[in-house]
Amino acid sequence: MPLVAHLNDRHWGLIGAGVIGRILVQRLRSQGLRSERILLCDDDPVRGARARQALNIKVCPLSDACCRADIWLLATPPPAILPTVQRLRPKFHPGHIVISFAAGVPLSQMEAALPEGVAAVRVMPNALSLIGRGVNPVAYGQGCSLEDRALVQELLAALGESIVIRDEQMDWAVGLTGASMRWLLPVLEGMTLAGKDAGFSEGHARWMAAKMMEGVAALALETDMSFEDMKALTSVQVVDEEAIRELFREAVHRAKTLAETMHPGHHS
Ligand SMILES: NC(=O)c1ccc[n+]([C@@H]2O[C@H](COP(=O)([O-])OP(=O)(O)OC[C@H]3O[C@@H](n4cnc5c(N)ncnc54)[C@H](OP(=O)(O)O)[C@@H]3O)[C@@H](O)[C@H]2O)c1
Repeated sequence: MPLVAHLNDRHWGLIGAGVIGRILVQRLRSQGLRSERILLCDDDPVRGARARQALNIKVCPLSDACCRADIWLLATPPPAILPTVQRLRPKFHPGHIVISFAAGVPLSQMEAALPEGVAAVRVMPNALSLIGRGVNPVAYGQGCSLEDRALVQELLAALGESIVIRDEQMDWAVGLTGASMRWLLPVLEGMTLAGKDAGFSEGHARWMAAKMMEGVAALALETDMSFEDMKALTSVQVVDEEAIRELFREAVHRAKTLAETMHPGHHS
């Protein structure tokens, strides 16, 4: 019988309420998580007040007894992840799950900082989860039970698609999924501008460009045609396809290298 995870069976604690932290709260709520089941732990009163107002969420300092949860979502910038784990350590108990959404902090380093019996998980998030359409690669630590995995999958289902990968591949995931919107959007933007040059409204131009991009993605997803066969369907050739292909390939490599520089203890 499949394990059925219930988001409301657990108490969720969030650290870091920026782009990703806010998306997590919104998506969990959209899946029925009740507001009283999630709280933000933050020692900075200004930041806490901002998050409380934006998300209508309970906030308490890390040192306070009210900062309690059994699933912890860490969505701070990478340098704050291990110090946060150290500060929260007395609050972690066997059976708890700690999920990091940060680039650059290996699962092994998180596991080393956690008490025995606490499961560590790493997810590479991306902003498409705002509309439940992201691809979120996940790596599970050795201490994750089947039940832990089922619960994390429930969370990931709220964010979009997911794929289980090895933690060693996470630096690559920064460029393949996490940050890739950043170089896919200029393609859309350029085509939208050309549509405006043609006299279309921005809305119509953007719609045409986005629908074409959506269609290209669907062709790649729904058929097993090779890239050469898909390209051969259109005869107009006005760009240096090899240069474009290598540009994007290089972008993923660069993002991976950048992620490596974020590893705790990294010396450039
Ligand atoms: N955004 C993406 O698409 C994306 C993609 C891949 C990976 N990620 C990863 O996701 C994580 C969050 O990214 P983000 O885009 O949400 O960043 P963000 O918008 O900068 O949010 C980070 C939040 O954490 C807060 N913060 C910083 N230090 C903290 C601490 N010690 N305790 C509590 N809160 C703290 C920041 O507050 P202040 O602003 O006041 O410093 C900010 O509100 C990062 O580790 C990043 O590597 C994000």
